[in-house]
Amino acid sequence: MGQGTPGGLNRQGASGDRKNDGDKKDKKFEPAAPPARVGRKQRKQKGPEAAARLPPVTPLTKCKLRLLKLDRIKDYLLMEEEFVTNQERLKPQEEKTEEDRSKVDDLRGSPMSVGNLEELIDENHAIVSSSVGPEYYVGILSFVDKDQLEPGCSILMHNKVLSVVGLLQDEVDPMVSVMKVEKAPLESYADIGGLDAQIQEIKEAVELPLTHPELYEDIGIKPPKGVILYGGPGTGKTLLAKAVANSTSATFLRVVGSELIQKYLGDGPKLVRELFRVADDLSPSIVFIDEIDAIGTKRYEAHSGGEREIQRTMLELLNQLDGFDSRGDVKVILATNKIESLDPALLRPGRIDRKIEFPLPDIKTRRRIFQIHTSRMTLADDVNLEEFVMTKDEFSGADIKAICTEAGLLALRERRMKVTHVDFKKAKDKVMFKKKEGVPEGLYM
Ligand SMILES: Nc1ncnc2c1ncn2[C@@H]1O[C@H](COP(=O)(O)OP(=O)(O)OP(=O)(O)O)[C@@H](O)[C@H]1O
Ligand SMILES: [Mg+2]
Repeated sequence: MGQGTPGGLNRQGASGDRKNDGDKKDKKFEPAAPPARVGRKQRKQKGPEAAARLPPVTPLTKCKLRLLKLDRIKDYLLMEEEFVTNQERLKPQEEKTEEDRSKVDDLRGSPMSVGNLEELIDENHAIVSSSVGPEYYVGILSFVDKDQLEPGCSILMHNKVLSVVGLLQDEVDPMVSVMKVEKAPLESYADIGGLDAQIQEIKEAVELPLTHPELYEDIGIKPPKGVILYGGPGTGKTLLAKAVANSTSATFLRVVGSELIQKYLGDGPKLVRELFRVADDLSPSIVFIDEIDAIGTKRYEAHSGGEREIQRTMLELLNQLDGFDSRGDVKVILATNKIESLDPALLRPGRIDRKIEFPLPDIKTRRRIFQIHTSRMTLADDVNLEEFVMTKDEFSGADIKAICTEAGLLALRERRMKVTHVDFKKAKDKVMFKKKEGVPEGLYM
Protein backbone atom coordinates (compact mmCIF):
# COMPACT_ATOMS: atom_id res chain seq x y z
CA MET A 1 0.00 0.00 0.00
CA GLY A 2 2.72 2.33 1.04
CA GLN A 3 4.66 1.55 -2.18
CA GLY A 4 1.66 1.68 -4.43
CA THR A 5 0.50 5.09 -3.46
CA PRO A 6 3.72 7.02 -4.19
CA GLY A 7 4.04 5.29 -7.60
CA GLY A 8 0.50 6.16 -8.41
CA LEU A 9 1.09 9.68 -7.36
CA ASN A 10 4.19 9.92 -9.56
CA ARG A 11 2.41 8.61 -12.58
CA GLN A 12 -0.38 10.99 -12.04
CA GLY A 13 2.13 13.71 -11.67
CA ALA A 14 3.95 12.71 -14.89
CA SER A 15 0.82 12.45 -16.95
CA GLY A 16 -0.27 15.70 -15.52
CA ASP A 17 3.00 17.21 -16.71
CA ARG A 18 2.61 15.85 -20.21
CA LYS A 19 -0.92 17.01 -20.40
CA ASN A 20 0.25 20.35 -19.35
CA ASP A 21 3.00 20.31 -22.00
CA GLY A 22 0.57 19.22 -24.64
CA ASP A 23 -1.77 21.91 -23.66
CA LYS A 24 0.99 24.41 -24.00
CA LYS A 25 2.07 23.04 -27.41
CA ASP A 26 -1.48 22.90 -28.61
CA LYS A 27 -1.92 26.39 -27.57
CA LYS A 28 1.31 27.43 -29.30
CA PHE A 29 1.14 25.50 -32.63
CA GLU A 30 -2.49 24.84 -33.22
CA PRO A 31 -3.35 27.89 -35.29
CA ALA A 32 -0.92 27.46 -38.25
CA ALA A 33 1.92 24.97 -38.82
CA PRO A 34 1.48 21.40 -37.52
CA PRO A 35 -1.84 20.37 -39.04
CA ALA A 36 -0.79 21.78 -42.40
CA ARG A 37 2.46 19.81 -42.46
CA VAL A 38 0.82 16.60 -41.45
CA GLY A 39 -1.76 17.00 -44.04
CA ARG A 40 0.73 17.58 -46.85
CA LYS A 41 2.96 14.76 -45.84
CA GLN A 42 0.05 12.40 -45.75
CA ARG A 43 -0.96 13.42 -49.18
CA LYS A 44 2.55 12.94 -50.54
CA GLN A 45 2.79 9.44 -49.01
CA LYS A 46 -0.60 8.46 -50.36
CA GLY A 47 0.29 9.51 -53.85
CA PRO A 48 2.53 6.56 -55.04
CA GLU A 49 0.53 4.01 -53.08
CA ALA A 50 -2.62 5.10 -54.76
CA ALA A 51 -0.92 4.82 -58.14
CA ALA A 52 0.11 1.17 -57.46
CA ARG A 53 -3.29 0.19 -56.24
CA LEU A 54 -5.67 -1.60 -58.58
CA PRO A 55 -8.64 0.37 -59.52
CA PRO A 56 -11.78 -0.79 -57.76
CA VAL A 57 -13.45 -3.54 -59.69
CA THR A 58 -17.05 -2.89 -59.81
CA PRO A 59 -19.19 -6.04 -59.87
CA LEU A 60 -17.83 -7.11 -56.49
CA THR A 61 -19.90 -10.20 -55.75
CA LYS A 62 -19.16 -11.78 -59.12
CA CYS A 63 -15.44 -11.42 -58.62
CA LYS A 64 -15.56 -12.85 -55.15
CA LEU A 65 -17.39 -15.88 -56.48
CA ARG A 66 -14.76 -16.32 -59.13
CA LEU A 67 -12.06 -16.06 -56.53
CA LEU A 68 -13.71 -18.72 -54.43
CA LYS A 69 -14.02 -20.98 -57.43
CA LEU A 70 -10.39 -20.53 -58.33
CA ASP A 71 -9.39 -21.12 -54.76
CA ARG A 72 -11.23 -24.35 -54.79
CA ILE A 73 -9.59 -25.40 -58.02
CA LYS A 74 -6.25 -24.54 -56.54
CA ASP A 75 -6.99 -26.67 -53.47
CA TYR A 76 -8.01 -29.52 -55.69
CA LEU A 77 -4.85 -29.25 -57.76
CA LEU A 78 -2.76 -29.13 -54.62
CA MET A 79 -4.43 -32.24 -53.39
CA GLU A 80 -3.90 -33.93 -56.70
CA GLU A 81 -0.26 -33.03 -56.69
CA GLU A 82 0.17 -34.35 -53.20
CA PHE A 83 -1.60 -37.55 -54.15
CA VAL A 84 0.60 -38.05 -57.18
CA THR A 85 3.81 -37.47 -55.25
CA ASN A 86 2.61 -39.78 -52.52
CA GLN A 87 1.74 -42.38 -55.06
CA GLU A 88 5.18 -42.15 -56.55
CA ARG A 89 6.72 -42.49 -53.16
CA LEU A 90 4.50 -45.41 -52.09
CA LYS A 91 4.92 -47.55 -55.16
CA PRO A 92 8.56 -48.48 -54.68
CA GLN A 93 7.85 -49.02 -51.01
CA GLU A 94 5.29 -51.64 -51.78
CA GLU A 95 7.71 -53.40 -54.06
CA LYS A 96 10.27 -53.12 -51.33
CA THR A 97 8.04 -54.72 -48.72
CA GLU A 98 7.26 -57.48 -51.15
CA GLU A 99 10.95 -58.07 -51.65
CA ASP A 100 11.58 -58.02 -47.92
CA ARG A 101 8.80 -60.43 -47.32
CA SER A 102 10.15 -62.92 -49.80
CA LYS A 103 13.57 -62.60 -48.20
CA VAL A 104 12.12 -63.27 -44.76
CA ASP A 105 10.24 -66.22 -46.20
CA ASP A 106 13.46 -67.53 -47.63
CA LEU A 107 15.10 -67.26 -44.27
CA ARG A 108 12.28 -68.68 -42.31
CA GLY A 109 11.17 -71.27 -44.77
CA SER A 110 7.56 -71.92 -45.36
CA PRO A 111 5.86 -73.91 -42.62
CA MET A 112 5.62 -77.61 -43.26
CA SER A 113 3.77 -80.35 -41.55
CA VAL A 114 4.92 -83.84 -40.81
CA GLY A 115 2.92 -86.81 -41.95
CA ASN A 116 3.11 -90.44 -42.68
CA LEU A 117 3.28 -92.01 -46.09
CA GLU A 118 0.55 -94.57 -46.30
CA GLU A 119 0.74 -95.74 -49.86
CA LEU A 120 2.50 -94.86 -53.08
CA ILE A 121 0.00 -94.65 -55.92
CA ASP A 122 2.24 -93.85 -58.87
CA GLU A 123 5.35 -91.87 -59.69
CA ASN A 124 3.87 -88.58 -58.59
CA HIS A 125 1.05 -89.36 -56.24
CA ALA A 126 0.68 -90.90 -52.84
CA ILE A 127 -1.75 -91.31 -50.00
CA VAL A 128 -0.53 -89.67 -46.85
CA SER A 129 -1.91 -89.32 -43.40
CA SER A 130 -1.30 -86.20 -41.40
CA SER A 131 -0.58 -86.25 -37.74
CA VAL A 132 -4.10 -84.98 -37.09
CA GLY A 133 -5.75 -88.01 -38.55
CA PRO A 134 -7.33 -87.85 -41.99
CA GLU A 135 -5.70 -89.31 -45.07
CA TYR A 136 -5.14 -87.38 -48.28
CA TYR A 137 -4.35 -88.14 -51.89
CA VAL A 138 -1.55 -85.75 -52.75
CA GLY A 139 1.17 -85.10 -55.25
CA ILE A 140 4.86 -85.69 -54.78
CA LEU A 141 7.12 -82.84 -55.83
CA SER A 142 9.69 -83.65 -58.45
CA PHE A 143 12.74 -83.03 -56.30
CA VAL A 144 11.80 -85.64 -53.70
CA ASP A 145 13.93 -88.73 -53.95
CA LYS A 146 11.34 -91.35 -54.80
CA ASP A 147 13.69 -94.24 -54.20
CA GLN A 148 13.75 -93.50 -50.52
CA LEU A 149 10.00 -93.20 -50.17
CA GLU A 150 8.41 -96.27 -48.76
CA PRO A 151 5.13 -96.84 -47.02
CA GLY A 152 5.31 -96.00 -43.37
CA CYS A 153 8.10 -93.45 -43.51
CA SER A 154 7.79 -89.95 -42.14
CA ILE A 155 7.48 -87.20 -44.72
CA LEU A 156 7.39 -83.45 -44.85
CA MET A 157 4.29 -81.97 -46.42
CA HIS A 158 3.46 -78.52 -47.68
CA ASN A 159 1.28 -76.88 -45.10
CA LYS A 160 -1.63 -76.06 -47.41
CA VAL A 161 -1.70 -78.32 -50.42
CA LEU A 162 -0.11 -81.17 -48.44
CA SER A 163 2.04 -82.30 -51.31
CA VAL A 164 5.10 -84.27 -50.32
CA VAL A 165 8.09 -81.96 -50.25
CA GLY A 166 10.61 -83.96 -48.33
CA LEU A 167 11.54 -87.05 -46.45
CA LEU A 168 12.38 -87.33 -42.79
CA GLN A 169 15.07 -89.77 -41.94
CA ASP A 170 14.10 -92.06 -39.13
CA GLU A 171 15.54 -90.35 -36.15
CA VAL A 172 16.28 -92.30 -33.05
CA ASP A 173 16.37 -90.46 -29.80
CA PRO A 174 20.06 -90.10 -28.94
CA MET A 175 19.23 -91.24 -25.41
CA VAL A 176 17.94 -94.51 -26.80
CA SER A 177 20.87 -95.16 -29.05
CA VAL A 178 23.12 -94.84 -26.02
CA MET A 179 21.21 -97.64 -24.34
CA LYS A 180 22.05 -100.14 -26.99
CA VAL A 181 24.75 -102.47 -25.82
CA GLU A 182 27.21 -102.57 -28.68
CA LYS A 183 30.03 -104.30 -26.92
CA ALA A 184 29.01 -107.45 -25.14
CA PRO A 185 29.88 -107.41 -21.44
CA LEU A 186 32.65 -109.72 -20.34
CA GLU A 187 30.59 -111.59 -17.78
CA SER A 188 29.27 -114.89 -19.04
CA TYR A 189 27.19 -117.66 -17.52
CA ALA A 190 30.41 -119.33 -16.41
CA ASP A 191 31.12 -116.42 -14.08
CA ILE A 192 27.95 -116.99 -12.15
CA GLY A 193 28.22 -119.20 -9.14
CA GLY A 194 25.19 -121.32 -8.50
CA LEU A 195 21.89 -119.73 -9.52
CA ASP A 196 21.34 -122.64 -11.88
CA ALA A 197 17.58 -122.54 -11.53
CA GLN A 198 17.56 -118.82 -12.20
CA ILE A 199 19.72 -119.20 -15.29
CA GLN A 200 17.46 -121.97 -16.51
CA GLU A 201 14.37 -119.85 -16.00
CA ILE A 202 15.70 -116.78 -17.70
CA LYS A 203 16.86 -118.85 -20.63
CA GLU A 204 13.39 -120.35 -20.97
CA ALA A 205 11.56 -117.11 -20.61
CA VAL A 206 13.77 -114.80 -22.60
CA GLU A 207 16.15 -116.52 -24.94
CA LEU A 208 14.20 -119.54 -26.05
CA PRO A 209 11.18 -117.58 -27.33
CA LEU A 210 13.52 -115.49 -29.43
CA THR A 211 15.54 -118.33 -30.84
CA HIS A 212 12.89 -121.01 -31.10
CA PRO A 213 9.44 -119.42 -31.17
CA GLU A 214 8.06 -122.48 -32.89
CA LEU A 215 8.43 -124.54 -29.71
CA TYR A 216 5.92 -122.35 -27.95
CA GLU A 217 3.61 -122.45 -30.95
CA ASP A 218 3.72 -126.22 -30.93
CA ILE A 219 2.63 -126.37 -27.33
CA GLY A 220 0.10 -123.64 -27.95
CA ILE A 221 1.09 -121.14 -25.35
CA LYS A 222 2.24 -117.60 -25.66
CA PRO A 223 5.78 -117.11 -24.44
CA PRO A 224 6.09 -114.82 -21.45
CA LYS A 225 6.68 -111.18 -22.23
CA GLY A 226 9.28 -110.71 -19.64
CA VAL A 227 10.78 -111.61 -16.34
CA ILE A 228 11.56 -109.75 -13.21
CA LEU A 229 14.64 -110.54 -11.19
CA TYR A 230 14.34 -109.72 -7.55
CA GLY A 231 16.33 -110.36 -4.42
CA GLY A 232 18.62 -108.66 -1.98
CA PRO A 233 21.41 -106.37 -3.05
CA GLY A 234 24.44 -108.02 -4.53
CA THR A 235 22.82 -111.35 -5.28
CA GLY A 236 23.75 -111.32 -8.92
CA LYS A 237 20.76 -109.88 -10.73
CA THR A 238 22.68 -107.40 -12.83
CA LEU A 239 25.35 -110.02 -13.32
CA LEU A 240 22.87 -112.47 -14.79
CA ALA A 241 21.48 -109.83 -17.12
CA LYS A 242 25.00 -109.11 -18.27
CA ALA A 243 25.54 -112.77 -18.92
CA VAL A 244 22.38 -112.85 -20.99
CA ALA A 245 23.61 -109.87 -22.99
CA ASN A 246 26.93 -111.60 -23.45
CA SER A 247 25.52 -114.82 -24.76
CA THR A 248 22.56 -113.66 -26.79
CA SER A 249 22.70 -112.74 -30.40
CA ALA A 250 19.65 -110.52 -30.00
CA THR A 251 19.94 -106.78 -29.61
CA PHE A 252 20.38 -105.92 -25.98
CA LEU A 253 19.05 -102.58 -24.74
CA ARG A 254 19.88 -101.63 -21.20
CA VAL A 255 18.32 -98.84 -19.17
CA VAL A 256 18.43 -97.89 -15.56
CA GLY A 257 15.07 -96.93 -14.12
CA SER A 258 16.34 -93.57 -13.01
CA GLU A 259 17.32 -92.73 -16.57
CA LEU A 260 13.66 -92.82 -17.52
CA ILE A 261 12.91 -90.01 -15.11
CA GLN A 262 13.34 -86.97 -17.21
CA LYS A 263 13.59 -83.32 -16.52
CA TYR A 264 10.81 -82.16 -18.74
CA LEU A 265 7.18 -83.03 -18.55
CA GLY A 266 6.29 -85.81 -20.95
CA ASP A 267 9.85 -86.75 -21.77
CA GLY A 268 9.83 -89.87 -19.61
CA PRO A 269 6.85 -91.53 -21.31
CA LYS A 270 8.23 -90.46 -24.65
CA LEU A 271 11.53 -92.10 -23.87
CA VAL A 272 9.78 -95.33 -22.90
CA ARG A 273 7.85 -95.29 -26.17
CA GLU A 274 11.01 -94.55 -28.10
CA LEU A 275 12.84 -97.33 -26.30
CA PHE A 276 10.24 -99.90 -27.25
CA ARG A 277 10.00 -98.57 -30.77
CA VAL A 278 13.73 -98.99 -31.24
CA ALA A 279 13.55 -102.42 -29.63
CA ASP A 280 10.85 -103.31 -32.13
CA ASP A 281 12.89 -101.98 -35.04
CA LEU A 282 15.94 -103.93 -34.00
CA SER A 283 14.04 -107.05 -32.99
CA PRO A 284 14.67 -109.69 -31.87
CA SER A 285 15.75 -107.75 -28.85
CA ILE A 286 15.93 -107.81 -25.09
CA VAL A 287 15.18 -104.74 -23.00
CA PHE A 288 16.78 -104.78 -19.60
CA ILE A 289 15.52 -102.21 -17.10
CA ASP A 290 17.60 -102.25 -13.95
CA GLU A 291 16.41 -100.79 -10.65
CA ILE A 292 12.83 -100.64 -11.86
CA ASP A 293 11.67 -99.45 -8.43
CA ALA A 294 12.72 -95.95 -9.50
CA ILE A 295 9.60 -95.70 -11.63
CA GLY A 296 7.53 -98.72 -10.76
CA THR A 297 6.47 -97.93 -7.23
CA LYS A 298 2.89 -98.37 -6.13
CA ARG A 299 0.40 -95.88 -7.43
CA TYR A 300 -0.93 -93.67 -4.74
CA GLU A 301 -2.19 -90.13 -4.57
CA ALA A 302 0.59 -88.23 -6.22
CA HIS A 303 0.88 -84.71 -4.97
CA SER A 304 3.80 -83.18 -6.75
CA GLY A 305 4.12 -82.82 -10.48
CA GLY A 306 7.32 -84.85 -10.39
CA GLU A 307 5.58 -87.84 -8.82
CA ARG A 308 2.82 -87.67 -11.35
CA GLU A 309 5.35 -87.59 -14.14
CA ILE A 310 7.01 -90.71 -12.74
CA GLN A 311 3.63 -92.41 -12.63
CA ARG A 312 2.92 -91.44 -16.19
CA THR A 313 6.24 -92.99 -17.16
CA MET A 314 5.22 -96.21 -15.46
CA LEU A 315 1.80 -96.18 -17.10
CA GLU A 316 3.49 -95.84 -20.44
CA LEU A 317 5.65 -98.81 -19.53
CA LEU A 318 2.53 -100.83 -18.67
CA ASN A 319 1.00 -99.77 -21.95
CA GLN A 320 4.09 -100.82 -23.85
CA LEU A 321 4.16 -104.16 -22.07
CA ASP A 322 0.65 -105.18 -23.02
CA GLY A 323 -0.48 -102.47 -25.42
CA PHE A 324 -2.22 -103.09 -28.66
CA ASP A 325 0.97 -103.42 -30.61
CA SER A 326 2.22 -106.91 -30.29
CA ARG A 327 5.76 -107.04 -29.07
CA GLY A 328 6.47 -110.51 -30.31
CA ASP A 329 10.18 -110.29 -30.56
CA VAL A 330 10.86 -107.99 -27.67
CA LYS A 331 11.52 -109.47 -24.27
CA VAL A 332 11.78 -107.47 -21.12
CA ILE A 333 13.96 -108.14 -18.12
CA LEU A 334 13.35 -106.05 -15.03
CA ALA A 335 15.50 -106.05 -11.94
CA THR A 336 14.86 -104.70 -8.50
CA ASN A 337 15.71 -105.40 -4.92
CA LYS A 338 12.45 -104.02 -3.59
CA ILE A 339 9.78 -106.09 -5.25
CA GLU A 340 7.25 -105.45 -2.48
CA SER A 341 7.18 -101.75 -3.31
CA LEU A 342 6.39 -102.31 -6.97
CA ASP A 343 2.96 -101.63 -8.37
CA PRO A 344 1.01 -104.91 -8.52
CA ALA A 345 -0.25 -103.96 -11.96
CA LEU A 346 3.27 -104.16 -13.28
CA LEU A 347 3.69 -107.70 -12.04
CA ARG A 348 0.31 -109.18 -12.82
CA PRO A 349 0.27 -112.17 -15.14
CA GLY A 350 0.22 -111.09 -18.75
CA ARG A 351 2.75 -108.38 -18.26
CA ILE A 352 5.66 -109.73 -16.31
CA ASP A 353 4.72 -113.35 -15.86
CA ARG A 354 7.89 -114.73 -14.50
CA LYS A 355 9.29 -113.66 -11.19
CA ILE A 356 12.73 -115.00 -10.55
CA GLU A 357 13.96 -114.77 -7.01
CA PHE A 358 17.62 -114.37 -6.20
CA PRO A 359 18.19 -115.75 -2.71
CA LEU A 360 21.32 -115.28 -0.69
CA PRO A 361 23.74 -117.99 -1.72
CA ASP A 362 23.65 -121.27 0.13
CA ILE A 363 26.76 -123.17 1.12
CA LYS A 364 27.25 -124.83 -2.22
CA THR A 365 26.80 -121.59 -4.11
CA ARG A 366 29.14 -119.76 -1.74
CA ARG A 367 31.83 -122.30 -2.39
CA ARG A 368 31.34 -121.85 -6.12
CA ILE A 369 31.43 -118.06 -5.88
CA PHE A 370 34.61 -118.17 -3.80
CA GLN A 371 36.10 -120.44 -6.41
CA ILE A 372 35.16 -118.09 -9.21
CA HIS A 373 36.59 -115.02 -7.54
CA THR A 374 39.77 -116.65 -6.27
CA SER A 375 40.47 -118.52 -9.47
CA ARG A 376 42.83 -115.85 -10.73
CA MET A 377 44.43 -115.03 -7.39
CA THR A 378 47.66 -116.55 -6.12
CA LEU A 379 46.77 -118.15 -2.84
CA ALA A 380 49.17 -119.30 -0.14
CA ASP A 381 48.98 -122.93 0.87
CA ASP A 382 47.43 -122.18 4.26
CA VAL A 383 44.30 -120.60 2.82
CA ASN A 384 41.26 -122.54 3.90
CA LEU A 385 38.24 -121.08 2.13
CA GLU A 386 35.96 -123.70 3.66
CA GLU A 387 36.07 -121.73 6.88
CA PHE A 388 34.32 -118.83 5.18
CA VAL A 389 32.03 -121.02 3.16
CA MET A 390 30.72 -122.76 6.26
CA THR A 391 30.33 -119.59 8.31
CA LYS A 392 26.99 -118.64 9.78
CA ASP A 393 27.19 -115.06 8.52
CA GLU A 394 24.97 -114.05 5.68
CA PHE A 395 26.98 -113.30 2.61
CA SER A 396 25.75 -112.10 -0.69
CA GLY A 397 27.68 -112.72 -3.86
CA ALA A 398 28.87 -109.15 -3.80
CA ASP A 399 30.20 -109.60 -0.25
CA ILE A 400 32.21 -112.60 -1.31
CA LYS A 401 33.68 -110.68 -4.17
CA ALA A 402 34.50 -107.84 -1.81
CA ILE A 403 36.26 -110.20 0.61
CA CYS A 404 38.41 -111.62 -2.17
CA THR A 405 39.31 -108.16 -3.48
CA GLU A 406 40.04 -106.88 0.01
CA ALA A 407 42.30 -109.83 0.82
CA GLY A 408 44.20 -109.24 -2.39
CA LEU A 409 44.65 -105.56 -1.50
CA LEU A 410 45.94 -106.44 2.00
CA ALA A 411 48.58 -108.74 0.49
CA LEU A 412 49.49 -106.03 -1.98
CA ARG A 413 49.96 -103.50 0.81
CA GLU A 414 52.66 -105.73 2.34
CA ARG A 415 54.18 -106.42 -1.05
CA ARG A 416 53.47 -110.12 -0.79
CA MET A 417 52.89 -112.13 -3.91
CA LYS A 418 50.59 -114.60 -2.19
CA VAL A 419 47.37 -114.01 -0.35
CA THR A 420 47.30 -115.74 3.02
CA HIS A 421 44.57 -117.03 5.25
CA VAL A 422 45.08 -114.14 7.64
CA ASP A 423 44.41 -111.72 4.81
CA PHE A 424 41.12 -113.38 4.14
CA LYS A 425 40.19 -113.27 7.79
CA LYS A 426 40.97 -109.60 8.08
CA ALA A 427 39.16 -108.90 4.84
CA LYS A 428 36.10 -110.76 6.03
CA ASP A 429 36.00 -108.84 9.29
CA LYS A 430 36.34 -105.60 7.40
CA VAL A 431 33.59 -106.43 4.96
CA MET A 432 31.25 -107.61 7.67
CA PHE A 433 32.07 -104.52 9.72
CA LYS A 434 31.13 -102.29 6.83
CA LYS A 435 28.04 -104.29 6.10
CA LYS A 436 26.67 -104.02 9.61
CA GLU A 437 27.09 -100.30 9.48
CA GLY A 438 29.73 -99.93 12.09
CA VAL A 439 28.69 -102.70 14.45
CA PRO A 440 31.83 -104.81 14.82
CA GLU A 441 31.57 -108.45 14.00
CA GLY A 442 31.27 -110.66 17.07
CA LEU A 443 29.77 -108.05 19.34
CA TYR A 444 26.48 -109.85 19.58
CA MET A 445 27.77 -113.37 19.38
N1 LIG B 1 26.12 -115.75 -7.99
C1 LIG B 1 27.20 -114.98 -8.17
N2 LIG B 1 28.29 -115.51 -8.73
C2 LIG B 1 29.40 -114.77 -8.90
N3 LIG B 1 29.51 -113.47 -8.57
C3 LIG B 1 28.46 -112.90 -7.99
C4 LIG B 1 27.25 -113.62 -7.77
N4 LIG B 1 26.36 -112.80 -7.21
C5 LIG B 1 26.98 -111.59 -7.10
N5 LIG B 1 28.23 -111.66 -7.56
C6 LIG B 1 29.20 -110.58 -7.55
O1 LIG B 1 28.60 -109.45 -6.98
C7 LIG B 1 28.67 -108.33 -7.80
C8 LIG B 1 27.40 -107.54 -7.69
O2 LIG B 1 26.31 -108.28 -8.15
P1 LIG B 1 25.12 -107.61 -8.95
O3 LIG B 1 25.59 -106.36 -9.55
O4 LIG B 1 24.56 -108.62 -9.89
O5 LIG B 1 24.14 -107.30 -7.79
P2 LIG B 1 22.60 -106.97 -7.91
O6 LIG B 1 21.84 -108.19 -7.57
O7 LIG B 1 22.33 -106.34 -9.22
O8 LIG B 1 22.44 -105.94 -6.74
P3 LIG B 1 21.54 -104.63 -6.71
O9 LIG B 1 20.17 -105.12 -6.41
O10 LIG B 1 22.13 -103.86 -5.61
O11 LIG B 1 21.66 -104.01 -8.02
C9 LIG B 1 28.87 -108.87 -9.19
O12 LIG B 1 29.68 -108.02 -9.93
C10 LIG B 1 29.55 -110.19 -8.97
O13 LIG B 1 30.94 -110.04 -9.05
MG1 LIG C 1 21.90 -104.44 -9.92
